[in-house]
Amino acid sequence: MYNIVIFYVTVFIFSICTAVNDYSYLINTTQCTIPNLPAFYHSWNNYTPSYPISCSSFEPVSYITVERDVVTLHIRTEVIQKQFGNSDDNTCCYSVISRHGSVDYPDVGYVFSSYCRSFKNSARLYDDTVVVLCHNSTEDTTNGYPSNFWYSNIHQVVRRTPNLVRKAELLKESSRKKPISVLIVVIDAVSRLNFIRTMPKTRDFVTQNGFHEFRGYNKIDDNTFPNAMAFFSGMNQNQSVDICQPWTLDGLNNCPLIWYDYRDLGYITAYAEDWSDIATFNYLKKGFKVPPTDYYFKPYMDSLRFLRTEIQDGMPFCAGPESQGDRMLNLAFDFAKNMKGLPSFGVFWMNTFSHNVITTPKTMDDKVKQLFQRLKSVGVLDESVVILISDHGIRFGEILNTTRGYYEVRLPMNYISLPHWFKERYPDETRNFLDNTKVLTSTYDMYMTLQDLLVLSGTDYKVKSSRACPKCKSIFAKIPNERSCSDAGISNKWCTCNLDLDMDK
Ligand SMILES: *[C@@H]1O[C@H](CO)[C@@H](O)[C@H](O)[C@H]1NC(C)=O
Ligand SMILES: *[C@@H]1O[C@H](CO)[C@@H](O)[C@H](O)[C@H]1NC(C)=O
Ligand SMILES: *[C@@H]1O[C@H](CO)[C@@H](O)[C@H](O)[C@H]1NC(C)=O
Ligand SMILES: *[C@@H]1O[C@H](CO)[C@@H](O)[C@H](O)[C@H]1NC(C)=O
Repeated sequence: MYNIVIFYVTVFIFSICTAVNDYSYLINTTQCTIPNLPAFYHSWNNYTPSYPISCSSFEPVSYITVERDVVTLHIRTEVIQKQFGNSDDNTCCYSVISRHGSVDYPDVGYVFSSYCRSFKNSARLYDDTVVVLCHNSTEDTTNGYPSNFWYSNIHQVVRRTPNLVRKAELLKESSRKKPISVLIVVIDAVSRLNFIRTMPKTRDFVTQNGFHEFRGYNKIDDNTFPNAMAFFSGMNQNQSVDICQPWTLDGLNNCPLIWYDYRDLGYITAYAEDWSDIATFNYLKKGFKVPPTDYYFKPYMDSLRFLRTEIQDGMPFCAGPESQGDRMLNLAFDFAKNMKGLPSFGVFWMNTFSHNVITTPKTMDDKVKQLFQRLKSVGVLDESVVILISDHGIRFGEILNTTRGYYEVRLPMNYISLPHWFKERYPDETRNFLDNTKVLTSTYDMYMTLQDLLVLSGTDYKVKSSRACPKCKSIFAKIPNERSCSDAGISNKWCTCNLDLDMDK
């Protein structure tokens, strides 16, 4: 009897060990093995957790609603009442914000209109970026602006415009297939493993709602710019510099970035990035002379400097009463929701809660989860391809001195969801997609994927091979299982395959 129990216990323990071994590689082929490190590790417990800082002790006094083409700016008088006991003494005004760069840096800067227009309770808005100031109504504002305002906030509207609707409808009518909308949400510097550690609620939600994890997703260069260029243009750093000359005034406007193809083929396009001081295309570069996408939120993000900035872990977390991260999540949601039913391509790139410190993504786990819940509830996940991705792992801190850090910085998270109608219409592509979640992939494959989506959308787009990785493929194509780093355009320096590293370090 006891012998039998011991036998079963032994078999059971043996099976557990075998099971663990089965999963001890992320990738295990003759060309590439990558160990499957557990997400949690001993010294993780020693990191001081980051706590979300509150950007305001009271609910924002102003907010915006969009009902079809009617946009209204509202004041929460009850909040004023609560703060001051009497809302009659107070008045608010708004003014319009526009893009306003210098001759040398046309992509950086904003300007307020000359007059701050007073309003009570609500006002209909015809402009899309506004600053709201609230002040004591006895204050003299004859010069156009109050100077002693006790509340300030900036709002960005994302509304349909007739021209863009016309362009997108035209694409719907002319394309041979249903155009596929694409929504890309980037959280900078988050490895797959750090996503598991710091954003468990978001991860649970997305994986339970149709997102698939690309476990062998490997970056191709060090920091954001080259990885972003690889993603949007299929070029490496040197090619990007040669061909796009990002240090010249017109360079990035005349650069083969995929969002220009989407825009020119009739998609409604958007690009937003927070922490505008280090923005990907502006940091030590010239940025865009003219807006690169139909909706371009750089002026909005620049204007946030007018508001009080509160720093968390070295990042400009709060911009006035709302965090920059919240503002980005709202932009992504508003864009996806308001363009629903029309072909759209939106990129929302966030840095302010992830860029510097390995623990900070935790502070936004609830909020990021809410974005995906909201996208689901308005049907965006049923309509669009949605990508939740990072460019690289954390590039600062002690973890870089460990073997784990060596892997993590090279293996960013990449989660992708396909709408049901796509899976039904494209079973072969869907099968390849699922197979490819388990093979080595790189940033250049994502560029091929974004091109493939244009082809699958029935446009006349002609796929170009990636300049830096001619063998790279769309994740909807059959990628060979037996794939090496060089097949995927990953140089030895960034390759995570076949390493013989000291795992105790
Ligand atoms: C990795 O692949 C090799 C060759 O197919 C196989 O012998 C080995 O058992 C695999 N290891 C794991 C842990 O799956
Ligand atoms: C506004 O100013 C008036 C006159 O200075 C003052 O009596 C009143 O208390 C102020 N109200 C608020 C809410 O600060
Ligand atoms: C990029 O250019 C630098 C400087 O000219 C050169 O040293 C380096 O090898 C080039 N890298 C690649 C990937 O071509
Ligand atoms: C990594 O280790 C080196 C040498 O021990 C040390 O000088 C450096 O400060 C460490 N870097 C980090 C980020 O901890």
